[in-house]
Amino acid sequence: PVLVVDFGAQYAQLIARRVREARVYSEIVPHSMPVAEMLAKNPAAIILSGGPSSVYEPGAPTLDAGLFAHDVPVFGICYGFQAMAQALGGTVAHTGSREYGRTLLESRGGTLLRELPADLPVWMSHGDSVAVAPDGFTVTASTPGAPVAAFEDLTSKRAGVQFHPEVAHTEQGQEMLKRFLYDIAGIEPTWTPDNIIEEQVARIREQVGDKQVICGLSGGVDSAVAAALVHKAIGDQLTCIFVDHGLLRAGEAEQVEKDYVAATGIRLKVVDASEQFLGHLAGVTDPEQKRKIIGREFIRTFEQAARELDAERHIEFLVQGTLYPDVVESGGGTGTANIKSHHNVGGLPDDLQFALIEPLRTLFKDEVRALGAELGLPEEMVQRHPFPGPGLAIRIIGAVDRERLDILRSADLIAREELAASGLDREVWQFPVVLLADVRSVGVQGDGRTYGHPVVLRPVSSEDAMTADWSRLPYDLIAKISNRITNEVREINRVVLDVTSKPPGTIEWE
Ligand code: XMP
Repeated sequence: PVLVVDFGAQYAQLIARRVREARVYSEIVPHSMPVAEMLAKNPAAIILSGGPSSVYEPGAPTLDAGLFAHDVPVFGICYGFQAMAQALGGTVAHTGSREYGRTLLESRGGTLLRELPADLPVWMSHGDSVAVAPDGFTVTASTPGAPVAAFEDLTSKRAGVQFHPEVAHTEQGQEMLKRFLYDIAGIEPTWTPDNIIEEQVARIREQVGDKQVICGLSGGVDSAVAAALVHKAIGDQLTCIFVDHGLLRAGEAEQVEKDYVAATGIRLKVVDASEQFLGHLAGVTDPEQKRKIIGREFIRTFEQAARELDAERHIEFLVQGTLYPDVVESGGGTGTANIKSHHNVGGLPDDLQFALIEPLRTLFKDEVRALGAELGLPEEMVQRHPFPGPGLAIRIIGAVDRERLDILRSADLIAREELAASGLDREVWQFPVVLLADVRSVGVQGDGRTYGHPVVLRPVSSEDAMTADWSRLPYDLIAKISNRITNEVREINRVVLDVTSKPPGTIEWE
């Protein structure tokens, strides 16, 4: 792999993704990892990421200069660039002045910047800057605030830049990263979805042998792709369990039961538990209470189904759709899986006596989608927006019952249909529709007075759901959705738009 050394800023994940977009596998490692341990991973190159603004900052992480005693190619970015310059005997000027945001790079060619325009917009965020490049390095660019903004040494296969090539504001950034990977480090771009599948399939076969495997399907992308991958590896040794809690959107249960099975040939055990879930939810209005009930019932149902299956065929493994960001956030990939309770309905219990298979634990969400497409899963399934485990129960403000679920389902389907028809599906992270079931307002329809419920449209744009902004959907689209909902769903006579970012609002209303 290419190792991205994380110096503690936000940039390491972004760099890792950009490297992968260049079809080269990358992993993030903490800066505290000893050089010997990094080298043990047999890296094709090491990228030192951004971090604090200055190598002189108190407590700034140090770079083990021992790294440069080896001939692994190294690319330094921002803080990593300064740390590298210092470790190799260059000079970092402690200026105290800052250069921040978009600036123009004056390029003088070289390999990294070859054939790129002489004046390039780049994104900077640094305090100190490199004043003198280390011996053997050619300075290939400067900016007003950084006399040495890029350098390279083709013999040792090392290069660095003061700006951030990984951010979109640096217009040719991806091009530069590719030049480092392909032309300076000499790496081949072979990390493609079909290669990933091939590798994972071999690994799963080796891990599982002839044992039996179980997987819980949620209807979401991650579990669907994880199961499809495992199925490709071991076929009928896999059985999937799908718990229908009655809180899904229109067509979702059918999508799993028919389209998914048709596309994959997976053996599926469907448990219709809607009576049970709705029974326990009757009259409950408190959001946390709803979540707890759903989480508890989900585990009960899943365990019961797993026991029945286990009696039939002894199960040794459980498939989990854990993704790379979870692995990185929980400390970088060693030890047992730390699965956020968010990611399953309430999380599965620890005492389920199965070993885990996590075929997606090295992948980002968009890579999982690409894999799903390559595995032949239906487009609607692969491009599906995230949907919370507790389902529509936390989008009905008030108590949950079948009638209210049906009302919300109808409104939600219209919003989804129109968003898809507008072609803006992929611009939007999620588009919850929320039923204010305990609120009523007066309206007029035809000649008559109505006294119905409002629904809230909550389209949001986001990178990772940690922060979000309300999507500026075209007014015409919102008007169309509003018209259709009030015309087609009798109980709803008012449609409102949620214009709150996160924070302070969360994406879901409960
Ligand atoms: P909030 O509402 O906290 O949501 O801004 C952030 C993201 O998480 C989803 N979400 C959940 N997903 N189980 C899940 O699997 C849950 O209990 C849950 N609650 C929220 C939400 O849809 C959004 O994508």
